[in-house]
Amino acid sequence: MRKITIAIDGFSACGKSTTAKRVATILGYSYIDSGAMYRAVTCFFLQHHVALTNPREVLQALREVRITFKVNTRGVSETYLNGLSVEAEIRSMRVSEQVSQVSTLPAVRTAMVDQQRKMGRDKAIVMDGRDIGTVVFPDAELKVFLTADLLTRAYRRQQELLAKDDLVDLNVILDNLIKRDEIDSTRAESPLRKAPGAIELDTTNLTIEEQTDEVVRFALALMLKPVG
Ligand code: CDP
Repeated sequence: MRKITIAIDGFSACGKSTTAKRVATILGYSYIDSGAMYRAVTCFFLQHHVALTNPREVLQALREVRITFKVNTRGVSETYLNGLSVEAEIRSMRVSEQVSQVSTLPAVRTAMVDQQRKMGRDKAIVMDGRDIGTVVFPDAELKVFLTADLLTRAYRRQQELLAKDDLVDLNVILDNLIKRDEIDSTRAESPLRKAPGAIELDTTNLTIEEQTDEVVRFALALMLKPVG
């Protein structure tokens, strides 16, 4: 079977990460959560009080950031920042409130995109984010753009946080999603856009199983296609 690259982009809380993870498991592909990388950088910047307006400070900080992923004993991939697991911290509202601002910085994007391309060198990968189909892997064989209505997304994010014993008011989540949508789609550097050729999937009324199946179907059709 042909090895392909699968790029999944879309707005926050459309189920990108869950879908991408499941698709990767079904196909035996690796999975990279590019959002977790931007979140880990944000974590580092917060810990070290990096001034986002000072390009030299930002560059110096980026040199000190090492992001890795490791599968834990439950088979779940965790994000590590300089050797320490930051999986819980990167999902906190404190990080969610800063991450889109940090992600507008060209130096941050260049550093992350470089790493992401290296991780995808051998294909057989599913990566999710905002610019995977447009910038990171514009030649990906399969590009998917996920959407869902705002209230559904806010409710899903609330449930996700609740599962980690973090009860957050729906209005606080709504406010954060609206702000991030705005920053992510209007920034100068690689804004969130549906890539040319991407398949758009509205997940508002789909279960996670249904949206996973859709993507797997498209992927298998491409993987089984004879080369040439
Ligand atoms: O989980 P959620 O969908 O809320 O967001 P995420 O995928 O963890 O990404 C967090 C933030 O990182 C986004 O709101 C973007 O500002 C930024 N990001 C980005 O700029 N480019 C990517 N490829 C992935 C995330």
